Amino acid sequence: MSETFREGLLEGKVAFVAGASSGINLQVARRYAEAGAKVMIISRSEEKIQAAAKGLRDDGLEAMGMSCDVRDYGKVAEAFSVCRDKYGEIDIVLSGAAGNFLAPALGMSANAFKTVVDIDLLGTFNVFRASFEHLRKPGASLVAITAGQAVKPMMFQIHACAAKAGVNQVVKCLAMEWGPENIRVNAVSPGPIGDTEGMARLAPSGAAAEASKSKIPLRDWGTKDDIGDACLWLASDAARYVTGAIINVDGGSEFGDASLDATKVDASK
Ligand code: COA
Ligand code: NAP
Repeated sequence: MSETFREGLLEGKVAFVAGASSGINLQVARRYAEAGAKVMIISRSEEKIQAAAKGLRDDGLEAMGMSCDVRDYGKVAEAFSVCRDKYGEIDIVLSGAAGNFLAPALGMSANAFKTVVDIDLLGTFNVFRASFEHLRKPGASLVAITAGQAVKPMMFQIHACAAKAGVNQVVKCLAMEWGPENIRVNAVSPGPIGDTEGMARLAPSGAAAEASKSKIPLRDWGTKDDIGDACLWLASDAARYVTGAIINVDGGSEFGDASLDATKVDASK
């Protein structure tokens, strides 16, 4: 990807990124800041979020961090006020805080199910709902990080499947309700992304991990930058007519097993 695509794309804009002390969301925040945005990042751990913000600042980027649990609406609203006071009206909001673990329904308490639904789904509602009064209107762009579990049932993932399905509907409903204010609301659905906590918790390791790549149409896991670039595009004016979209950035993995190579099949037979 050419650097020219990113350079200055978000100059003068303000971005608020939830769940950004690590992983994919921190890389999205970095992409936003590299493109010129002033960035506020939040997550639960004061220590982790301040270290992440310092890492961005050490690279010459404009960033601040605040500890905030997305399940706490009052605290989320306070974080938006702090961001707006420091940086001004907010152009971009990314909601990506999530929790996950593998467990069968019978190995999961009601509180375990609720915990993941509260972080992923209620958290996304809280972040988007609390952002409204601080958004630049017209023109703000809201992006949720969803997952393939939203549309594809998976064993040991009943909590995440239910939560991310809800996230997709939050995105579509807000796209309808807030479109007249020219606020765009979209989601990015990452496939398997290497070097992340999500994959460490959910994916096979060793030979099984390599084998899993051979089933993906593009034959590889994605990178955090793949998600960063998709979120950058959605946040930019280049996506000005896109709203209510759930964009797969997954190498085609949504379609299931593509291990046969149809380009090598002898079509004459
Ligand atoms: N299997 C079954 N139940 C589990 C579990 C597991 N592996 N891990 C946690 N739980 C249950 C707990 O037992 C508890 O239920 P209980 O009160 O009935 O005992 C409930 O989930 C909440 O756990 P708690 O540790 O109090 O929640 P938390 O809010 O501190 O942490 C988690 C949230 C559990 C999602 C934690 O894994 C986390 O912080 N994850 C963030 C990072 C992450 O998941 N990244 C990947 C994103 S895709
Ligand atoms: P990660 O590094 O664990 O990121 C999750 C982030 O959310 C952390 O910064 C965590 O920081 C924060 N967080 C957790 N609970 C929170 C809460 N209650 N309030 C505020 N922040 C909270 O995991 P990741 O793998 O990069 O996943 C990032 C996103 O991508 C998630 O939405 C996930 O569902 C999605 N996704 C990932 C993959 C993948 O392959 N990894 C695939 C599809 C979708 P604190 O601990 O400091 O709170």
